[in-house]
Amino acid sequence: MVPAVVGVLTISDRASTGVYEDKSGPAIQSVLTRWIASPWRAECRLVADEQPLIEAALRELADEFHCALIVTTGGTGPSPRDVTPEATVAVCDRMLPGFGEQMRAVSARTVPTAILSRQVAGTRGSSLIINLPGKPAAIEECLGAVWAAVPYCIDLIGGPRLLFSAEAPAPFRPTSA
Ligand code: MTE
Repeated sequence: MVPAVVGVLTISDRASTGVYEDKSGPAIQSVLTRWIASPWRAECRLVADEQPLIEAALRELADEFHCALIVTTGGTGPSPRDVTPEATVAVCDRMLPGFGEQMRAVSARTVPTAILSRQVAGTRGSSLIINLPGKPAAIEECLGAVWAAVPYCIDLIGGPRLLFSAEAPAPFRPTSA
């Protein structure tokens, strides 16, 4: 079985210039390592909060590495340098607004500032792109909020059929699928 490729894109001015270590990219990898049971590998990138750099990384991960899933972290807030949602919208063929709505709704139960994240999700070809906030603590909470729909979404856009561990939120597929 050819390993599926998952793109992990960290967007941070400070992590990309070495002011601090990227903790969110590794947090995504560690959650996915616990959840994905079929063969996969991560393709990781770290870029500054610059829209052209984010778009180029997303295009490369989708078009050259054919990532089934691309998870970004950071740059979703309201600060002037936060442009991850704009870059994601620019590269996606279609948006999936329910992902952002659900992640904010679930996060808002524990963090009132969850509504400050403008995170979006969408598809580019056969890649599902999901934005997560930059805080490492947000990674599992936000991915967990939408994960049940991720496998079926990847099926629908023509990605590989991934298998998940018992630790992952149970995937939901309609009975006709
Ligand atoms: N969502 C979760 N689950 N946990 C968090 O700690 N932080 C919020 C929000 N969403 C947070 C969260 C805060 S404080 C901000 S400013 C926004 O995400 C945007 O974060 P970002 O700019 O690092 O992407």
